[in-house]
Amino acid sequence: MKPSPRSFHVKSFGCQMNVYDGDRMAELLEAEGLEAVADADAADLVVLNTCHIREKAAEKVYSDIGRLVKREHGPAPMIAVAGCVAQAEGAEIPRRAKAVDIVVGPQAYHNLPALVREAAAGRKALDTDMPALSKFAALPARRRQGPGAFLTVQEGCDKFCTYCVVPYTRGAEISRPFAAIVDEARALVDAGAKEITLLGQNVNAWGEDGKGLDDLIRALDRIEGLARIRYTTSHPNDMTEGLIRAHAEVGKLMPYLHLPVQSGSDRVLKAMNRSHSAESYLRILERVRAARPDIAISGDFIVGFPGETEAEFEETLGIVEAVNYAQAFSFKYSPRPGTPAAEMAGQVPPAVMDERLQRLQALLNAQQFAFNQASVGRRCEVLIERTGRKPGQMLGKSPWLQSVHLETDAAIGDLVEVELLAAGPNSLAGAALVRKVA
Ligand code: SAH
Ligand code: SF4
Ligand code: F3S
Repeated sequence: MKPSPRSFHVKSFGCQMNVYDGDRMAELLEAEGLEAVADADAADLVVLNTCHIREKAAEKVYSDIGRLVKREHGPAPMIAVAGCVAQAEGAEIPRRAKAVDIVVGPQAYHNLPALVREAAAGRKALDTDMPALSKFAALPARRRQGPGAFLTVQEGCDKFCTYCVVPYTRGAEISRPFAAIVDEARALVDAGAKEITLLGQNVNAWGEDGKGLDDLIRALDRIEGLARIRYTTSHPNDMTEGLIRAHAEVGKLMPYLHLPVQSGSDRVLKAMNRSHSAESYLRILERVRAARPDIAISGDFIVGFPGETEAEFEETLGIVEAVNYAQAFSFKYSPRPGTPAAEMAGQVPPAVMDERLQRLQALLNAQQFAFNQASVGRRCEVLIERTGRKPGQMLGKSPWLQSVHLETDAAIGDLVEVELLAAGPNSLAGAALVRKVA
């Protein structure tokens, strides 16, 4: 039996929504009187906030558990598995890894304190219920923040892309209430946030009584002390005219759009159940760029979807050429248990996927470098997020989400007017022009 924990460590994997959930679990445990520790090896309770999106991500949890059990100093900690692996595998987890005491799904983590008490009483504790939205109402108030904060506004997904586990691990699409979101945004700003990134698996599907994400963005634009608004991840089919217009009209909305296309082949897109074509995707970006010409476009790609031919893969390279991305994420297809694509004929051999991923990434990296180079000479505001490696050096983000390092006496959370001087593949060097506190 493991004693009642006095300290904890939350380790989050996967997407930004998991980072948000991890923060909220930490706030919850702190409200219960537990102390957060930075070193997982020193914590009485370790929460592994897991991701199920690809096989590698899902398997990571088991190697982590193995490491925690073999910890050098002191007894093994109480172990809680949270997040999407918890939802997908449930009671299977403590069967496979006996050291796990708690399994808690992404919609049930407000019950974590009760589960910890149950585990301290010597019982395996499991909660993977999906009550609609009750967790948000049950969570404690937001606490001190860094300059950049995440805010979940929409959860779950009804799109059922044939490769994807998210509709199963996060449940049906649900929008949080407008008023609750605006309240949380205010609380985050009061707690130190300068930039808020609205999160959802399909964030642009957020809606309430005819209001859309653009209305929410316009409401946040009026919050004093908030300097920047971002949102992610969007689905092409939910890119409304109102949201596109917001990019032209809302001052605090940053010129950056993450809009995954996955493939450039209409045959593959159909097999993925994406319900948009390569052409319709390009037309959306045309409208977005007409509204905000300097916007940075980012995307996600999957190579080696079942049945993908060399010619179809080349169509993906083609759409990348046509879009010209500022940033992108690309993955080898990973068959996920229970998804339709895992059963499809024509699974692509790993060596072919490797080779395609390399070609795609070479192109995407070159585009990112070119985007950074084209930024040299631009003047923009940089939000200072942390200290750099050298003394006097600070790191921050440009409006286009590029990392910028500069010498300045500005503090974390300051907005600094900067001239961008030099570009690397992953970051830029800038010079502070005037110090400006937002
Ligand atoms: N809700 C978002 C993000 C989903 S997960 C969206 O719809 O865009 C993030 C990315 O992981 C996806 O965009 C996709 O590119 C990738 N992904 C999802 N399932 C995958 C799988 N089975 N194999 C490989 N990549 C996958
Ligand atoms: Fe997954 Fe598709 Fe939903 Fe995105 S839209 S979360 S890729 S099912
Ligand atoms: Fe992973 Fe779940 Fe996010 S599967 S990507 S942590 S929604």
